[in-house]
Amino acid sequence: MFVCVCKAVSDRQIRRAVREDGVTSLRELARLHGVGTCCGKCVPQARELLGETLASA
Ligand code: FES
Repeated sequence: MFVCVCKAVSDRQIRRAVREDGVTSLRELARLHGVGTCCGKCVPQARELLGETLASA
């Protein structure tokens, strides 16, 4: 499922970014995958998913 439609980034890619690439913030996620850098609609969901993944890592 795409979280960020603009940049075609899925929830799986976001989880992988946290677990394998050491991403810990939305800023890093934006730098790595461009999440939230276009329309910004995905930011709340991306932030939630990031928090959940960090908490369960
Ligand atoms: Fe992520 Fe538009 S859906 S920037």
